[in-house]
Amino acid sequence: MDIKEKLEMIKKEAIEMLNSGIDLEAIRVKYLGKKGELTAVLRSMGQVAPEDRPSIGKLVNEANAYIEQAIENKKSSFMEKAMQAKLLAETIDVTEPGKKVDVGHRHPISQTEEKLVDIFVGMGFSVVEGPEIEYDYYNFEALNLPKNHPARDTQDTFYITDNILLRSQTSPVQVRTMENTKPPIRIISPGRVYRADPADATHSPIFHQMEGLVVDKGITMGDLKGVLELFAKKVFGENTKIRFRPHHFPFTEPSAEVDVSCWECGGKGCRVCKGEGWVEILGAGMVHPFVLKNCGIDPNVYSGFAFGMGIERIALSVFGIDDMRLFYENDERFLKQF
Ligand code: PHE
Repeated sequence: MDIKEKLEMIKKEAIEMLNSGIDLEAIRVKYLGKKGELTAVLRSMGQVAPEDRPSIGKLVNEANAYIEQAIENKKSSFMEKAMQAKLLAETIDVTEPGKKVDVGHRHPISQTEEKLVDIFVGMGFSVVEGPEIEYDYYNFEALNLPKNHPARDTQDTFYITDNILLRSQTSPVQVRTMENTKPPIRIISPGRVYRADPADATHSPIFHQMEGLVVDKGITMGDLKGVLELFAKKVFGENTKIRFRPHHFPFTEPSAEVDVSCWECGGKGCRVCKGEGWVEILGAGMVHPFVLKNCGIDPNVYSGFAFGMGIERIALSVFGIDDMRLFYENDERFLKQF
């Protein structure tokens, strides 16, 4: 076999090996390596006639380049295939339905509270918060409810010590505010309050109130009525009327319970207002002179009004819900509706 034939044979063999899937590096070593077949051919050049050596040398180089190229081609086709497989495995099907993320929303109590706050902020009130763990002094005594006052019974709460309790109303914020602010005062105070009441459709041991307090020179019951009327219209509709019924709170004098005309029937009487035409929504009155004095405000110079409402009660009516317990059960089927 002459060298030309030998080279052709080597090339053919190399290509066959490449196609048979043998390790590319092994093929490179076998044919192109220092101890490889082509090097062996070069070593045998001694037997070639000197005048033929350049052309044979050229043929060996060509065979070398040929096999090298074939190996490179194989390598890039492998890489190409690997890339294709990878791309295929990582394909994102944009038409596939996505995973649904549930977006929550504000709780109906919070929604109601925000709405009430907005209305009063619009009338120039600012928001003040007070502690839920309160002194007996602020919750009762400074509000003209000394120890053993019978009206304490209606607001029986949870005591931590004899003098520290969970506040039963937001009214202590009135006292805290008057103690450290000079009139004019115009504040609302929303927040949680506590009473030792068993839970039923209209009671809960924890609920929310919003207090209002205005103190300045020359404040009258007319101002209180004006503010509450505007508030009632914004919450229950433009045609809403309000009505004051005489009542007693130890910290206001005179005191009133305030009703709004029934938003359902407009006052004719229906199931919602139990035939009354009116629904009670809050307590209010002129700040008692004793309370002003307790807080270092001269009742001969200043007067004020205060009101307090239950946020749950308003939420129940606004949303048409008939059981307060639903607010606290956190059942999504209920909450989703608001
Ligand atoms: N704090 C009273 C209550 O919880 C409501 C109220 C507030 C009444 C302010 C008059 C003035 O029943």
